[in-house]
Amino acid sequence: MPRVDSAIPLCLGRTKQQERAAGRPLFNKLGDLYGKRGLALLLLQKLFRSLGVVRTENGAGTANTALAFHAGRLLALHEGDLPYGVRVLCNGLIETMGRMRLSSSWKTSFTAHPKIDPVNGEMLFLGYQFESNPYVSAGILDEHGNLVRQWGVELPYPVMMHDMAATENYLVLMHLPLCFDPQAMVKDNTVPFRLRRELTSRIGLLRRDQASCPAGGAEVAWFDIPGPGFMAFHVATAFEDAHGNVKVYACQQDNINLDLDAILCSEELARLTEYTLVPASGAASSRRLSSVVGDFPVVHPGKATRPCRWAWLATMETSATCNTPSFTGIAKMDLTAQPGTDACAGCIAYPAGTYGGEAVFVPRTAAAAAEDDGYLVVYVYDTLADASYFHVYDAVKMGSEPLARIRMPRRVPYGFHGTWVSEQQLKSQVMWV
Ligand SMILES: [Fe+2]
Repeated sequence: MPRVDSAIPLCLGRTKQQERAAGRPLFNKLGDLYGKRGLALLLLQKLFRSLGVVRTENGAGTANTALAFHAGRLLALHEGDLPYGVRVLCNGLIETMGRMRLSSSWKTSFTAHPKIDPVNGEMLFLGYQFESNPYVSAGILDEHGNLVRQWGVELPYPVMMHDMAATENYLVLMHLPLCFDPQAMVKDNTVPFRLRRELTSRIGLLRRDQASCPAGGAEVAWFDIPGPGFMAFHVATAFEDAHGNVKVYACQQDNINLDLDAILCSEELARLTEYTLVPASGAASSRRLSSVVGDFPVVHPGKATRPCRWAWLATMETSATCNTPSFTGIAKMDLTAQPGTDACAGCIAYPAGTYGGEAVFVPRTAAAAAEDDGYLVVYVYDTLADASYFHVYDAVKMGSEPLARIRMPRRVPYGFHGTWVSEQQLKSQVMWV
């Protein structure tokens, strides 16, 4: 196969020093918050916090959702905490450098899905919480990792805001009505969130050059998306088109089923959808781009925040037997597909009985002429042979035969998100806490 930069599979560093010291779990995980037991755990956590038994301000997250490389730092991310800097050592092991230090005015957590502007190197991010307004805070780190702007954003009600987007001039907020609902947790024996379809899904544009207002009052232009409220956990990308309109691409689910053992119905499956926001008129519209079911979208990292054509999704079996992701391949989506045509331009199918995770797009060279000139890399697990592999695919041709297939020395569990770190980036890592 053609050479690509060497990379090291990334795993987690140590985050919860408090739990290590206590010798037992101290913090709730979302998967524990089910039914009456979940409510009891929530109340217990609140009590522990009020008594000072646990100090969430010292870190409470698992840093296991996603990774991002910014300002010489590899960040392990979880939306319930601040980022942790981890360093890949020359022997391939991971060293935890420490928890990110932000300004004392930053009172909340940090998304697992920040966006990096490839033009100026800024990282745009947000954090959200459910207790009081401003329910959302957003900010920008400059190319050196310094917090240069920070805003507080009031919302009429708090939501889970898992992902975000950014364009050349805007930070894009997804105010979608997946609401915190501990009553439903007990009543329906589910996790404490409920999609309130009677509420309107909104997308907000916050100008990146707006003056900081950490305590709240940020100006956001909100666009109501027609139709019942929906959820989109993941945003592929966003950009401003030649008319000054903002295009946002996300994997929309018309309904949510949070019962992990449930068989999903069609409206609960994610499909790539385009949202067009018109700042000049305040109008907004949406259209489904493909019938292909898929999530965990990625684009060329050099095209983030700017106009682009291609996105790749992890495809799911439409006959999914349960809510647990079973990604069966990768779909290539043409964001410029005309109305009435399906945006899917190619599909990679894993062998029968083999399932994967998020596929990461790796440009073939920094100077690649074509946006899709590169590779898709993914961990897959062969359930029949009980073996994990690292697969490399051609992102142009989208053939199901991998260019390279590397057997892993042991099982690699299904994960959430990944990233590609080049040899050059690894060498540029800074010592930092
Ligand atoms: Fe995610």
